[in-house]
Amino acid sequence: MSDFKIWMNGRLVPQAEAVLPVNSAAVFYATNVFEGLRAYWNERDGELYGFRLADHFARLRESMKLMRFTVGQSDEQMFDAVRAVLAGNEVREDVHLHMVAYVAAPGLDATAPTGLYINPRRRPRLTDKAGMACCVSSWVRTSDNAIPIRLKCGANYQNGRLATLQAKADGYDQPIFLNQRGKVAEGSGATFFMVRKGRIVTPPVTSDILESITRTTLMEYVCPEVLGMQVVEREIDRTELYTAEEAFFCGSGYEITPILSIDRFSLGRGEVGPLTKRIAQGYMDLVRGVDTRHPEWRTPTYRAVTV
Ligand SMILES: Cc1ncc(COP(=O)(O)O)c(C=O)c1O
Repeated sequence: MSDFKIWMNGRLVPQAEAVLPVNSAAVFYATNVFEGLRAYWNERDGELYGFRLADHFARLRESMKLMRFTVGQSDEQMFDAVRAVLAGNEVREDVHLHMVAYVAAPGLDATAPTGLYINPRRRPRLTDKAGMACCVSSWVRTSDNAIPIRLKCGANYQNGRLATLQAKADGYDQPIFLNQRGKVAEGSGATFFMVRKGRIVTPPVTSDILESITRTTLMEYVCPEVLGMQVVEREIDRTELYTAEEAFFCGSGYEITPILSIDRFSLGRGEVGPLTKRIAQGYMDLVRGVDTRHPEWRTPTYRAVTV
C-alpha cells in the first residue's frame, strides 16, 4: 500500500481511512469514472509538472456526463485538489495519480451527489521489460452501443481484466483487443500504434478505443514535430499486426511501451524499433519539460498558476 495520503472530498486522509460503504453504487456496481494521470519531477526547475491536466479534467467531465453523474467540482477545484494532494504529501518525484469520481449512494439515482478522491501512487515505470509479448485476445472490446470504452468507467475495466488474465495464463504479457467489427481496437489500458511500410498508424477514435491524451500528444506534436512524420489514423486488420515492423502501447500509465511480438510473430528484428525509440524519447522529454515546447501542457504544481 502506498504511504501517500489520499485527498478525499477536501481532506487528506491516510490510505486506510479512505473507505466507501459496501452498499454504495461505487463499490457494488463500480459506479465511478476516473482518470490516470502523471506528474513529472523536473530537477532543473525544482518543479513537479502535471501533464495535460486540463485535458484529463475535460475527459473526466465527459465521462461524468455520459454516466449522468452530478458534477460538483469546477476545473479550478479539481486543479486545487491535485495541488493539495501533491503538496500535502510533499511529492518531489515522478508520480501517477488516480482521480476518481464516484457515487456513494446505493442504487441508480442520477441525482445522488458525486464524491471525488485522488490517490497518488509511486510508479516509476509500468514494466522493466524492454518490450511486451502480446496476443490478439479472444475477448472482444466492448462496443460503443453496449458499454462504451470512450467512457472511462471503472466497470469497463472488467473487459480488460478478462483479456489480461487470459493473456497471462496463456504465457503472454498483454492482450490486444479487436472490436466487434473485427478491427484492431487497443490494449487493455493503453492505445495501440504500429509502424507498417514505414508509416506510423493508429486506429481511429471510432474503433472502440479510449480517446487517449497520449495518442493526441503523439499525433499533434511528437510524431509531426519531433520526428517529422504524420500519424495515419485508420482501421487496422489483424494480419497487419503480424507484418508490422514495430508496435507499441501508449498511455499516461504506459508512457511508450514497445511491443516485440504478437501471437509469437516477431515484429521487425524482435527488438525495440528505431521509430519507437525516437517517439519514446520525444515523449519523455516533453512530459518532463526537458523539451520546453508546449509549456501549456505542463502545469507546475508548486508555483502558483491556474489551468
Ligand atoms: C482503455 C485505455 N485506453 C487507452 C488509454 C490511454 O489513455 P491516456 O493516454 O489518456 O492515458 C488508457 C489509459 O488511461 C486506457 O485505460
